[in-house]
Amino acid sequence: MKFNIMVLPGDGVGTEVAAEGIKVLQAIGKKYRHSFVFARGLVGGAAIDVQGTALAAETLALCKKSDAVLFGAVGGPKWDDPKAKVRPEDGILALRKGLGLFANLRPMKLYPMLVNTSPIKADIVRGSDFIFVRELTGGLYFGRPKKRWQTTRGWRAVDTMAYSEKEIDRILRVGFELARSRRKRLVSVDKANVLETSRLWRQIATELAKEYSDVTMEHMLVDSCSMRLIQQPTYFDVMVTENTFGDILTDEASMLAGSMGMMPSASLAAIPREGEKSFGLYEPIHGSAPKRAGQNMANPIATILSAAMLLRYSLALRKEAQAVETAVEAVLQDGYRTYDIMSEGMNKVSTGEMGDLIARKIG
Ligand code: IPM
Ligand code: MG
Repeated sequence: MKFNIMVLPGDGVGTEVAAEGIKVLQAIGKKYRHSFVFARGLVGGAAIDVQGTALAAETLALCKKSDAVLFGAVGGPKWDDPKAKVRPEDGILALRKGLGLFANLRPMKLYPMLVNTSPIKADIVRGSDFIFVRELTGGLYFGRPKKRWQTTRGWRAVDTMAYSEKEIDRILRVGFELARSRRKRLVSVDKANVLETSRLWRQIATELAKEYSDVTMEHMLVDSCSMRLIQQPTYFDVMVTENTFGDILTDEASMLAGSMGMMPSASLAAIPREGEKSFGLYEPIHGSAPKRAGQNMANPIATILSAAMLLRYSLALRKEAQAVETAVEAVLQDGYRTYDIMSEGMNKVSTGEMGDLIARKIG
């Protein structure tokens, strides 16, 4: 089969890890006889420098024509001026909105051989395996008004957290569907003791729980959830939450996995259903890591696991996705580590070497 993949490497280590994602997809193509056609575009700071905008209209159009998008990372000190008119982050936000990617899946699985890499005690973290469903096109990120203005008593600024019933319903359904395919337990995370949007969220979640009666749903306040994640991470299986809460909780969760360099993500435009294709964008949850850029040292595993999610969700290639995940595990088992997950007695490898090792395992 032939598939068109749009690649947006972005800035910093984004370009380095995206190259490894492509390498691994090519290995899959060769082994399973698929042809992946890669098109490339600029996004983030790289696009600002050349095109004057963090995401050009042509780039968005090319993404829409593709079967899936593989994304690196955006941002860097060069474009960090808080007064700047355009920011690299606008690129990823415009992609999420422009492609209707409302459902962000962020799995956290601690590989047994990395148990001692996590800053959390082994006895607590061992066996952690859960997935966050983060709402991605609503809430504080996109709500209006959103502005900064000067008053006679100084500056003021406002962001707006807004959600419609439709937006909440569809993201909760993603959570329920995923819970169905896993351990049938869903934690719905909100701040219903304070926020009106959360009270609406909780009401809809309670109604949906009747429809998905095979799933046990529990409400949890976001502050309490952030504590529980560290105290008893194995408690969780599927969690669903709004945009900002999901942003924060998934960075926290990445520390359980040992490194952000291990955390992939999928951003989907539809509720994923077994065997069906849904358009999506796939990216590591880490950023452009400007300090690590250009040194061939970043961990490409988050991107490679994102490529596996691309195979699974957007191309419905289950066995190929599994092959990538198995190869990652095998290479870790062989003792190869990038700097961020390095421990005594292991073999330290570069970005490119890690990609090569994983690609070779597949072939
Ligand atoms: C993430 C990132 C982004 C976000 C930034 C780069 C806009 O932190 O994907 O978690 O806040 O969503
Ligand atoms: Mg984030």
